[in-house]
Amino acid sequence: MSGSGGRLSVVGTGIRLAGQLTVETRHLVRQAHRVFAVMADPFSLGVLRDLNANIASLQVHYSKGRPRDESYERMVDAMLEPVRKGEHVCAAFYGHPGVFVWPAHEAIRRARAEGFEATMYPGVSAEDCLIADLGIDPGVSGLQTYEAADFLVHPRTIDARTPLVLWQLAVLGDLSRSTFETDPAWVRALALVLAESYPADHRVIVYEAAVGPFDRTRADEVPLDQLHDLEFTQASTLYVPPIGVPEADENRLRRLGLDPTGRAEAAFQKHRRTS
Ligand SMILES: C[S@@+](CC[C@H](N)C(=O)[O-])C[C@H]1O[C@@H](n2cnc3c(N)ncnc32)[C@H](O)[C@@H]1O
Repeated sequence: MSGSGGRLSVVGTGIRLAGQLTVETRHLVRQAHRVFAVMADPFSLGVLRDLNANIASLQVHYSKGRPRDESYERMVDAMLEPVRKGEHVCAAFYGHPGVFVWPAHEAIRRARAEGFEATMYPGVSAEDCLIADLGIDPGVSGLQTYEAADFLVHPRTIDARTPLVLWQLAVLGDLSRSTFETDPAWVRALALVLAESYPADHRVIVYEAAVGPFDRTRADEVPLDQLHDLEFTQASTLYVPPIGVPEADENRLRRLGLDPTGRAEAAFQKHRRTS
């Protein structure tokens, strides 16, 4: 066991840092001996630099042609080295630091395994922004969320009556995990898989939350079978709206002593509309 006072705080700065940086995160960035950051835009990195001048971007570890897994290992090493020397390191990731951020989880795992204090502080994720911008309430409709390539390759039991979110369109089909580009053949394959559960003309949305204060949110609607016509960026997330609403199972209602044709089902439907 080590534990010479070194400590790791992993924070999320939200998608729109200007409005979503929490007081707690601001404090941790200020107090840390050293800050590492993965930001989606230079403005956000500048804001963090104003809070703490001892900051370095972890994005220098990405390089075209270098497998992303190798870049991630380098990021983890960079974060842990000063912790081992007794420093308080703050690692800041845009969005939520625990959502699709392997190096953040891995740095915490390794720091703890070596006896250091390591804590993750949540932030506003792209999915949180999508919920707000597209008007979805998971408490009413439920929510399915997957990494796009993972969803495409592994058969999932999906429910077309529940909203579906697919992340990381920008690297869909990047098998080498080094090019940061979408393979159009994979986009067509994804649309075909989705067409097993939705009509081919079902309208889906390519969503990009506004990042800067003056940016506009992108919500481009397109029929599923034309998805390949759209351009994807590193910020593109696919939203597949549900088809209709689920119906209560009569046997289950009866088992609960509820009348399936009466007020019980109506009460559930009302909840669906109003909550
Ligand atoms: C490596 S993940 C990082 C997610 C981030 N940690 C979060 O909490 O949102 C990158 C993926 O997040 C989604 N994403 C990132 N920025 C976005 C934005 N501005 N709008 C919508 N989705 C975004 C995209 O699916 C993108 O491929």
